[in-house]
Amino acid sequence: MTANTRSDESGIDLDDIGTNPTANPSFSDLIASRLSRRSLFGLGVGTAGTALLQACGGGGGGGTNFPILPPAPAPAPAPAPAPAPAPGAAPLKLNFNAVAKSLDDVVSVPAGYTASVLYRLGDPIASGVAAYKNDGTDDATTYDRRAGDHHDGMTFFGANASNKWDPASASRGLLVMNHEAITPLFLHPAGQTITGSGTAAVRTVADEVLREFYLHGVSVIEVNKTGNAWSYKQDSSLNRRVHTLTEMTFSGPAAKTDYLKTKYSTDGSKTRGTLNNCANGTTPWGTYLTCEENWAGYFRRIKATDDAKRTAKEIASFNRYGVASNGRELWATVTPDTSDNLYGRWNTEVIGATAIDDFRNGHNTYGWVVEIDPFTPASTPKKRTALGRFGHEGACLGPVVVGKPLVWYMGDDSQNEYLYKFVSTKAWDAADIGGGIAAGDKYMDDGKLYVARFNADGTGNWLELKLGVNNITSGYAGYAFADAADVVINARHAADAAGATKMDRPEWTAVNPKNGEVYLTLTNNSARPVGGTDAANPRSYNDPKNGAAQKGNPNGHIVRFADAGGNPAAVTFTWDCYLFGARSTASADVNLSALGADNDFSSPDGMWFSQAAPGLLWLQTDDGKYTDVTNCMMLAALPGKVGDGAAKSITNVDGSTTGTQATFVGKAPGTEGLRRFLVGPKDCEITGIAESGDGRALFVNIQHPGETTAAANITDPTKFGSHWPEGGNARPRSATVVITKNDGGLIGL
Ligand code: FEO
Ligand code: CA
Ligand code: CA
Ligand code: CA
Repeated sequence: MTANTRSDESGIDLDDIGTNPTANPSFSDLIASRLSRRSLFGLGVGTAGTALLQACGGGGGGGTNFPILPPAPAPAPAPAPAPAPAPGAAPLKLNFNAVAKSLDDVVSVPAGYTASVLYRLGDPIASGVAAYKNDGTDDATTYDRRAGDHHDGMTFFGANASNKWDPASASRGLLVMNHEAITPLFLHPAGQTITGSGTAAVRTVADEVLREFYLHGVSVIEVNKTGNAWSYKQDSSLNRRVHTLTEMTFSGPAAKTDYLKTKYSTDGSKTRGTLNNCANGTTPWGTYLTCEENWAGYFRRIKATDDAKRTAKEIASFNRYGVASNGRELWATVTPDTSDNLYGRWNTEVIGATAIDDFRNGHNTYGWVVEIDPFTPASTPKKRTALGRFGHEGACLGPVVVGKPLVWYMGDDSQNEYLYKFVSTKAWDAADIGGGIAAGDKYMDDGKLYVARFNADGTGNWLELKLGVNNITSGYAGYAFADAADVVINARHAADAAGATKMDRPEWTAVNPKNGEVYLTLTNNSARPVGGTDAANPRSYNDPKNGAAQKGNPNGHIVRFADAGGNPAAVTFTWDCYLFGARSTASADVNLSALGADNDFSSPDGMWFSQAAPGLLWLQTDDGKYTDVTNCMMLAALPGKVGDGAAKSITNVDGSTTGTQATFVGKAPGTEGLRRFLVGPKDCEITGIAESGDGRALFVNIQHPGETTAAANITDPTKFGSHWPEGGNARPRSATVVITKNDGGLIGL
């Protein structure tokens, strides 16, 4: 059986759990001064002539001559004359036939393209490790040298012959990817072995738990192109797994404070592991950022007994982050515990005399952006506390300009949570390229953390999260802030105090390399009533699926914004709603982007701008709302810019309730601006994307195919919801696929 506390395989998205009780705007509370959009957009944003480079997630950047890049070696020979436009040529044009919506158990790509499986759950990444049997009997002690589960955010770091970062590398690199979570039914002989129920439920097979510890985290694998085929190198010395047992240090305001002290680290300087690694990010010095999203649910804390041992502030923090369960995988319940508390560390209750006698602060050691240097396998990852603690989706690097601060944009994915950005104090110096974790100390430990407020007039404000400003004081009623560490650890409370805008579940951010504009996927929000819409989260409606109501904003949308003056450090911005997910058959006030059969979608999540083809945007879905019609998908887009559409008043109808909401809708994309490129196998999520240095190979992750099998606890292999990628009656496996165009050209163009 599976743990009664887990819910992601029961058809309920864990991210749907909202823990934001505040009354933050609510645009009815704001003065809706109807400023002229034309004048707002006249403030100006970065232009194509600005020296920009960003590669938040998928690639280390290629084909550019911007100042951050190391001296490039001679470029690899082009594979073949490509009919696609050369990088940077304008205008780009989508050049493929749309893939039809599908419920088939396959990966579908357009004619003229090939998708090949590269790296599957359990695949060995060290010599001497046997091929994965995929029947739940593989030796648990080998899983620290196997691919993890639930592949997610991913970056391709081109590598040269000296094993140094070379963003332009077309045929060799390190593929670094997250392994967000697990589907336990497919990992053990017959799912998790559990006795008892409720708070008395316990895991009884330590080997099963050890597998799960190793299957979370991050993979670093060397990948090579031979001829036209890509493969990973099983015995590369650069291969590495980072998982829940890997030691990590803290830096920034919370490091070495009382809040992070545990029995494992009595000075609060370190912890073990990273967890629920969702989306990702990069740095201009060549390291990887992995982001801890739904970490809260892994900890055991029984409120009924623990609350009495806690201060009011501690309880307020637990409530705001949702730390109150048996622990979704019941890791804390294995007995006996080891001498180094491998299991007991997941119990974050007060059980000892002081904080260094137990793990009452264990939850504070998760929820961070973690930096990993993929080119130095022995390096210790570092949790960057200056970037705040929340349900981190990703950390997209903004435009990189020598002499200017660096910026990362970050979503907090839960219902009604916020959008953040971090701006470094230090200005970018290209001499730091290749500087590894030490360069991170320079740029990521010292800076300003902001949260976004989207105003009804199409403007926005970045509100600084710092003790003493924006109501973030010891006198704030919701949470009495004590110091700088308290602010970053309780960033959600700080954002509440500042008056941030509650969004429809902020997922990935992406920065358009052509103009520096930032895109934010808002995947869906079932907790957005008709009376609770605002300009940036304007829809509330019913989208029935198989006759069952789906209310709120079930299909999600994408907001975009331009920081004032094209300056990523600006504290104001202008915004619009670039795109709305919807069934093509939905009413005009739901299908606001006029999607048709070739480009309708629901629940946008992964999102990334190609670096090889500036202006080309990839969108990925993590959907459960439109899955009566289609599996999850990836679309190619050629977006315009903030303000290319129009102001609009929409009518929201949710059964008995009706309301109107003013917003700003981007120009409808048509099939020229948005087209379905890939549909995945059954019950999967499409997430994670990267490209080779020349843009001729696209790496895409297929996460948790067949997950409804686990929801129904189906153990008959012939009835699994998916058998991808092996087929037959095989257990399904999360996997990376690599997509190439048969003529060797750029993907999608
Ligand atoms: Fe792990 Fe918010 O997606
Ligand atoms: Ca997921
Ligand atoms: Ca996601
Ligand atoms: Ca998601």
